[in-house]
Amino acid sequence: MDDQAPSFIPIAAPVIGDREIAYVEDAVRSGWVSSIGPYIDRFEAGFARWVGVRHAVAVSNGTVALHLALHALGLGPGDEVIIPDLTFAATAHAVLQTGATPVLADVEADTFCIDPVAVERALGPRTRAILPVHLYGHPADMSAIRALAAPRGLDLVEDAAEAHGASVGEARVGSLGRVAAFSLYGNKIITTGEGGVLTTDDDALAARLRFLKDHGMSKERRYFHTELAFNYRMTNLSAALGVAQLEQAEEFIEKKRRIMDWYREGLEGVALDLSVERPGYRSVYWMASAVVRDGSPGKRDQVAAALKAAGVDSRPFFAPMSELPHLAKLRRVGRDGYGCPVSARLSARGMNLPSGCALGEGEIARVCQALRAALVA
Ligand SMILES: Cc1ncc(COP(=O)(O)O)c(C=O)c1O
Repeated sequence: MDDQAPSFIPIAAPVIGDREIAYVEDAVRSGWVSSIGPYIDRFEAGFARWVGVRHAVAVSNGTVALHLALHALGLGPGDEVIIPDLTFAATAHAVLQTGATPVLADVEADTFCIDPVAVERALGPRTRAILPVHLYGHPADMSAIRALAAPRGLDLVEDAAEAHGASVGEARVGSLGRVAAFSLYGNKIITTGEGGVLTTDDDALAARLRFLKDHGMSKERRYFHTELAFNYRMTNLSAALGVAQLEQAEEFIEKKRRIMDWYREGLEGVALDLSVERPGYRSVYWMASAVVRDGSPGKRDQVAAALKAAGVDSRPFFAPMSELPHLAKLRRVGRDGYGCPVSARLSARGMNLPSGCALGEGEIARVCQALRAALVA
C-alpha cells in the first residue's frame, strides 16, 4: 500500500480482529510457539469437521500441502498427473517436485476449472492421478472427473487452495477426492499468515502425511528416521490465527457472496462476463472475476490501468502453465486436441476485482463506476 492514496481499494486484504489477536497472544504467552500446541489440534479438528472428513493435517503452506499429498501417494518419475492449464504455478510445481510430469488440460469457459472432456483426452498409459483446481472459488466438475478416475484406479487430488467452504451438492470441496490441499495464505478465505492444510478420509494416508511432514521420524523411537522426508509443519502461532479465522469462515463466505451480488447489480449491462455459479454447485467467490468481452489486444490491461488510476487494485488471471518458459514443453490437451484455447482466452481477458471481506457496498460501487468508465473509454 506504500505509495497509494489512503482510499486505495485493495484486492483481498485479510480481516484480522480482536479474536485473532487474543488467540495469537494466548499462544505466544503459553510458550508453545513451534509446531506442538493446543491450537494445532484445535485447528485440525475444527477444519476436518467443517469440511466433513475424518482427518485434517496442518502444514506450512499450500504448495507443500500439494507436494506432500503427491509424494505420499507415491508419485514419481515416469508418472503423469493431469492438471488444468489455467492455475497458479504451485499446482504444476508440486507435481514436478515429485519427479512426475504434469499434463495440461484445457478449462471450461464458465467455471474456469479443468474440462472433463480435455481430461479424458489427456489420459494415457502413464496417467496416475488427476489434480483438479477449484479455481477462484468455484468447484471443478468432480462427478465427471471421478467417473474418469475411479474405473482406472487413478488418484483424485483436489487443489482446494482457493475454495474453502465451496461445495458440490451437499459435499464440501476437500471431501471429494482421495486427498485435498488448501492454502491459508493471507489473501485466502481464511488465513494463518502462511499455511496449508490437507484433508482426507483415508486413515492410513493421514498417518503417512503426519509422518512425512515431520522428518519421517519413527513414533516408537525418537531420532530414528526411516525414510527421506520433510519438515512441513505449521506453528501453533499460525494455528491460533487459523482457529480464530475458522470460527468466522461462514461469515466470510456470506460476505464474499454478497460482494459478488453487488458486482452483478453494479455491472449490469457492462461488456464483462462475471463469475457464474453452476446449478448444484456453491461457489465461495474467493475472487470476483470478470472476463472482458472486447478481445482487442491489451484491452484487459488498459482496463486494469484505468482502475489503478482510479485507486482500484485488480489482478490479471493467471498465465496459462503452457506459456511459462520452464513448462512450455509439457503436453497440453484441449477438447479438440489442439492446445488449450479456452485457457489462453481467459488468461488474456480475465481479471479479478477487489474481493476482500472488509469491503463495503460503497467501495464496490466505486469499483463498478471505475469499470464502467474504463470500458466505455
Ligand atoms: C490454485 C493454487 N494452488 C496452490 C497454491 C499454493 O498455496 P501457497 O501460496 O499457500 O503455497 C495457491 C496459492 O496461492 C493457489 O492459488
